[in-house]
Amino acid sequence: MIEISHVDKRYGPGFQALKDCTTSVAKGEVVVVCGPSGSGKSTLIKCVNALEPFQSGEIILDGIKVNDPKTDLPKLRARVGMVFQHFELFPHLKIIENLCLAQEKVLGRSHDEAMAKGSKLLDRVGLKDHARKYPAELSGGQQQRVAIARALAMDPIAMLFDEPTSALDPEMISEVLDVMVDLAREGMTMMVVTHEMGFASKVAHRVIFMDQGEIVEDALKTDFFGSPRSDRAQIPVEDLVALRPRRHSGMVRRTRPQMCNCTSGNLEIPGSCFACPGMTQNEFRRDSGFQFVDQALTIRV
Ligand SMILES: Nc1ncnc2c1ncn2[C@@H]1O[C@H](COP(=O)(O)OP(=O)(O)OP(=O)(O)O)[C@@H](O)[C@H]1O
Ligand SMILES: [Mg+2]
Repeated sequence: MIEISHVDKRYGPGFQALKDCTTSVAKGEVVVVCGPSGSGKSTLIKCVNALEPFQSGEIILDGIKVNDPKTDLPKLRARVGMVFQHFELFPHLKIIENLCLAQEKVLGRSHDEAMAKGSKLLDRVGLKDHARKYPAELSGGQQQRVAIARALAMDPIAMLFDEPTSALDPEMISEVLDVMVDLAREGMTMMVVTHEMGFASKVAHRVIFMDQGEIVEDALKTDFFGSPRSDRAQIPVEDLVALRPRRHSGMVRRTRPQMCNCTSGNLEIPGSCFACPGMTQNEFRRDSGFQFVDQALTIRV
């Protein structure tokens, strides 16, 4: 579905943000992209739907070459849902209007058709009763769910997420992750930049780890969490923290993960568990070998 081959990307003449990046996302596959701040995660994902041009290499999206000057980029972008950290809803439009606009203008759907689709998707993300509100009247988590619904309204062939939960207050993160987990389980092709390792452990097929513009690890989830091939585990957690001053609940593996000791029984990584959100940091550290990168948070997905 998404083929990325030997992509180099420079911002200006001097700075190389992506170095020989090669990976792919198959239809129905969920790939999580993580790595320290500035490692090129957003740049990579933006190159996929041509929000950023790149200088060499190739990206093929559903058989269409993204960096071919003949490619109809607006049409291509309409087929790929993109969800950003800061929602990017139209503030002057009601929620339902946010969902209808591109359906009507880009896909040429009738207003009734767009309304029906929009309402169905709002219901799906649990926001049916908020259709007539403006974005500013919703919480961050609700706005991000609207942004996901808006992207889904275009019937995308794939969804790209760029840290969709990192601007949210901690208590709102799981409501957004829940929607993403459902989407993944329904077979949506997804490329997700996130540090939510709970999400990765639950639904990702593969995890890509980037550092300084390079894909330093591209592994099946089980391999990534079980036996890392790169030396990323040696990157001191403090370095990642220093580079990531934002509010988020990412965590970095220090030692081999164990089974979660909560009672749900279906988890691979302690503390990244939907079933034990109340575990404290100290309990988590003691039991799991994980360390929090944000001291302010207690365990959650
Ligand atoms: N528009 C731009 N112009 C110049 N340099 C840029 C631009 N956008 C990003 N960069 C630089 O490219 C590098 C990669 O940035 P990118 O935003 O892709 O990193 P990231 O891994 O997404 O980081 P974060 O976790 O902070 O979001 C960084 O060094 C950044 O400063
Ligand atoms: Mg980024």
